[in-house]
Amino acid sequence: MYEGKNIILGITGGIAAYKSADLVSRLKKRGADVFCVMTDAAQEFITPLTLRTISNNPVFIKMFTEKCLTNVEHIGLADRADLFIIAPATANIIGKINCGIADDLLTTTIMATKAPVLFALAMNVNMYLNPIVQENIENLKRKGYYFVEPEEGILACGYEGKGRLANPEVILDRAEELLIKVKPLNGRKVLVTAGPTCEPLDPVRYITNHSTGKMGFAIARQALLLGADVTLVSGPTNQGTSKGIKLIRIQTALQMRDAVIEEFAECDIVVKAAAVADYRPKYTANDKIKKQPGDLSIELERNPDILFELGKKKVNQVLVGFAAETKDVLKYAAEKVKAKNLDYIVANDITQPGAGFGGETNIVTLIFADGKTKALPQMSKEETAREIIIEAIKLLHFKE
Ligand code: C5P
Repeated sequence: MYEGKNIILGITGGIAAYKSADLVSRLKKRGADVFCVMTDAAQEFITPLTLRTISNNPVFIKMFTEKCLTNVEHIGLADRADLFIIAPATANIIGKINCGIADDLLTTTIMATKAPVLFALAMNVNMYLNPIVQENIENLKRKGYYFVEPEEGILACGYEGKGRLANPEVILDRAEELLIKVKPLNGRKVLVTAGPTCEPLDPVRYITNHSTGKMGFAIARQALLLGADVTLVSGPTNQGTSKGIKLIRIQTALQMRDAVIEEFAECDIVVKAAAVADYRPKYTANDKIKKQPGDLSIELERNPDILFELGKKKVNQVLVGFAAETKDVLKYAAEKVKAKNLDYIVANDITQPGAGFGGETNIVTLIFADGKTKALPQMSKEETAREIIIEAIKLLHFKE
């Protein structure tokens, strides 16, 4: 994954700066080309000579210098980067970036880059827990910056607590995920369905289910983060979407079908996370149905099985279904993979605590067309979504 990638390693002035030499060496072993940018304070802890020797590249410190790779150094570095890692990242750099301060080569370069930026935090535990630092971290996360949290342990300042720079392999694994995120779905179209459908009985009432759309919206977001051009067809939900996602709002299964069929031919990956109603009222009254003495029966008719139709139309698309069940989950799910001609299905037992409708987490098993399965542990819906999309990407490459 690191092969041929340009990594800019920003080093700021904390005692953990000495560990950056090890990071450079590990990045190089994984095949990356590493360019170090140091703050003035970082040089108090480790010399540019050490980093230049290990990275086998010039080390960048000053904004204004004669020895440049390009005319405007910070823009050159910013553009060259596939990924920025700031390790160690002090409270100071976090504060500056959050406030938009660009007063040295490292801050200007971070500000100018479009590459993902990963901060590996290291500082005194009390600094780390300071609400100002925490707020800066939260703000930056919301703005799309990434973080590796510090580890617990004995700190150089003599304190014990959360503040040590994370293990280098943890930093590199996180960085690798971001590199995967950079482009694998660039130029690809991903279609996701989410939420329930609402099948009207009359202008006032409808038949629906408990789906909140959380899982489907998370999948759409992850596909967007991985570079895809994302269309999300959703039934009524309270979820908000990122601005890059094309959102088509529908009410009924029939409307969902029309929207999905229209998009399908152009798509590379289709994930049908929506809880589509299998039946709709056969007749929708124009006026509110008035109560009468005695019982009322509602005649229902079958909705089209959208996924089944897509399975028949499928050419090269990776087609992913969802199976929410209350019993014999894996058996039913495996049957659906075959019946609907899916590449895989995401099966979840909605009776399990931590899985299913509405909650923040999910526990799912992926069942593939060749019968292989992959059980994922309980994870946030966002993490589950990432796994789901990454498996789809693997299958997409396999088909080419
Ligand atoms: O057969 P079942 O409804 O359990 O299958 C669930 C999967 O099929 C989900 O991916 C759901 O989005 C999709 N589905 C559909 N059209 C329907 C019913 C379900 O696309 N009418």
